[in-house]
Amino acid sequence: MQITKLGMIQEIIRNLTSALSAASLYSPGHQRVIEHFARLTDTFRVYQSKETELLLARVEDELLFQGKPLAKTPNLEKLLRYCADQNVGFIRFSEGFTVNELQQLVKVLLGKDSIESLRLMTSYIQVGGVEAPSDENVRAISSFEDLSDEEKKGLHEQFDHVAEQGVLDITQMSSLVAGFIKAFRQNINPFLALVPLREMDEYTFTHSVNVGILNIAQGVSLGIEGQMLHDLGLAGMLHDVGKIFVDREVLNKAGKLDQDEFEMIQQHPHRGAQYLMNQEGVPKLAVFSAFEHHIRYDMGGYPKVPAGWQLNICSQMTMISDVFDALRTRRTYKNSWDFSKTSGLLLNNSGTQLNPDLTLNFLKVLAQMGEDIESFVDNAEDIEAMDAIIGCSCSIENPRCG
Ligand SMILES: [Fe+2]
Ligand SMILES: [Fe+2]
Repeated sequence: MQITKLGMIQEIIRNLTSALSAASLYSPGHQRVIEHFARLTDTFRVYQSKETELLLARVEDELLFQGKPLAKTPNLEKLLRYCADQNVGFIRFSEGFTVNELQQLVKVLLGKDSIESLRLMTSYIQVGGVEAPSDENVRAISSFEDLSDEEKKGLHEQFDHVAEQGVLDITQMSSLVAGFIKAFRQNINPFLALVPLREMDEYTFTHSVNVGILNIAQGVSLGIEGQMLHDLGLAGMLHDVGKIFVDREVLNKAGKLDQDEFEMIQQHPHRGAQYLMNQEGVPKLAVFSAFEHHIRYDMGGYPKVPAGWQLNICSQMTMISDVFDALRTRRTYKNSWDFSKTSGLLLNNSGTQLNPDLTLNFLKVLAQMGEDIESFVDNAEDIEAMDAIIGCSCSIENPRCG
């Protein structure tokens, strides 16, 4: 029976994961491991009669071959876990690799040796980290004013007219995110890049850019790099995209919302995720964040999800950025808060609405930026006012803010 190319790849993956399991039980040089290497090599020989190399790229929980996700099998998922644990972004096999080199690959995937060790040993098996697109030609954006009027107009249109156009062009947002990341690399205070307050009409736009920047700031501080960091920034920029489908009058209404209006706004996570799922080039993290950014750490909030639902870490980071920016720029019904008050408010809600570890990390980021987070509000009147905001009519609970 003739085995297809995809069948051969699955066979190679099966032998690699079997070798990994055997090597973790015994050792990379054990006879059982070598047997799997022999089968892997045999399959590769047949494979290489059709292709010169085999490149497997990991993008989150998918393994891509020639840009397309391979069918999920238990072995493939196992390999993905090994790759994720060692932060491996791709594996490339070329004709000519040896058993010794396969052993080294296994050591790398088991975390017993570095990616660099394999690079020094061979070019027949290459393993790469999770890499971001090259930022050689990217211009650092350290302030909103670094953008030309044309760029601002283009971005604005993305947010304003996406509902009519139906199609989202991710390119411009993507280069904005790359620009912010580059500025961060140059140690520029990310808070300087936050978009200044604008008219309410521009709220979704300015808020979205800010949440993108704050997500990047959190990501950098947590050591997230490469493509993942880029996707995290994009996820922030796109988290509220569903609001584009909500009536603008309802969105900007200054008074109390009636039940229908409230329900209308509560649809934005679902609408946004659905929309993003159908757009080309949108990272999965952005879809998760759009859907989950109003679901609290204690699983309250909205939309309601089945028991046992696991919130994506990126959504939880987006929620923190979201709440922070909403409070920072509150102006329809409250004056904006200063940094220390807002930090105190975040702290008060850590563990219930917000992921406590991520909140602490975010406060550290704020502290590094020279903000005095210690001066927590202890004035009864302020606390009452903040409770009113966090408890019922703002941020997480009030979808207008988040
Ligand atoms: Fe939202
Ligand atoms: Fe938001």
